[in-house]
Amino acid sequence: MLDAYGRKIEYIRVSLTDRCNLRCRYCMPAEGVEWHEPESVLSYEEILKVLEAASRLGLKKVRITGGEPLVRKGVVDFVRRVKAIPGIEDIALSTNGIKLAMMAKDLKEAGINRVNISLDTLKSDRYKYVTRYGSLDDVFRGIDRALELGLEPVKINAVIMKGFNDDEWAEWLDLVREKPIHVRFIELMPLGESHPWAKDAYLPFSEMIEGIKEYVELISGGRPEGAGPAAYYTFLGAKGSIGFIHALSNHFCGDCNRIRLTATGEIHPCLASLDAVDIKGALRNGEDIEAVLAKAILLKPEEHHMELYTGEEKDKRMFKMGG
Ligand code: 5AD
Ligand code: SF4
Repeated sequence: MLDAYGRKIEYIRVSLTDRCNLRCRYCMPAEGVEWHEPESVLSYEEILKVLEAASRLGLKKVRITGGEPLVRKGVVDFVRRVKAIPGIEDIALSTNGIKLAMMAKDLKEAGINRVNISLDTLKSDRYKYVTRYGSLDDVFRGIDRALELGLEPVKINAVIMKGFNDDEWAEWLDLVREKPIHVRFIELMPLGESHPWAKDAYLPFSEMIEGIKEYVELISGGRPEGAGPAAYYTFLGAKGSIGFIHALSNHFCGDCNRIRLTATGEIHPCLASLDAVDIKGALRNGEDIEAVLAKAILLKPEEHHMELYTGEEKDKRMFKMGG
């Protein structure tokens, strides 16, 4: 289906839960998150109904996200049922990797093709600090298991923050030399928790690339399969690639091909616009789901204006939106 600006919408990101087993400082508060009542969260049956309607509108790619999707019970069986929907050609997973080593084999057998793992630093003390709970060893066990199983391409998403992890370029480059991993460096977005300090910690793409060029000569290209909007580069001796998601300094809205379904049953046509369409009501009142999806797609704005955020956009939290 085409949106109002002629973009072909083929991709839906599905947040299974806004819960998470970590508390990354830029994403969630340490405590006091208001969880949704169980009945306000879509059941797997309801999500499957949305995906069936989406596939009839021509959507082909599904990404399963959270919060942390692997903390929701029954996720493997859910993936198996998504896989069975005619027209769904690709199922990807975004995870923090903590439970991945344990679950990767079942997830792959159920139909996951590839994984994105959130990992902002290669130093274990920093990892523990930024996630408040996480162990870097667990994430690496997950990454290695994903590679072993051929859940490829394995991508890592690293949010770069000035003064925190903007001095690890050499270590990241070594990792990409050693393993066929695609690391994407992400500009910090002023969403939710990070809003008060995001301006100070924001490191633009142009400065990231300056830092990296001190170590290697970058060659444009090396875009991995199923890659989203990012600028990709490789370098001599690399098994993988590096990329940059510069949503703020140079947005990709012209290539945007996605919509998002939240755990509580809203369709968000854009990560960063405040429009949302309630699909839970439609599901529970027996209304036409295809029509609701089509309406949401037509609401996609031409481009975002995240730089104008005030911090009061309570629903525009990454753990609700699924990244
Ligand atoms: N800016 C950029 N990325 C963010 N994420 C969460 N909050 C932010 C933010 N403020 C990313 C995480 C993860 C996904 C859930 O969203 O790193 O990759
Ligand atoms: Fe959890 Fe991801 Fe948010 Fe970290 S960034 S708290 S792993 S949802």
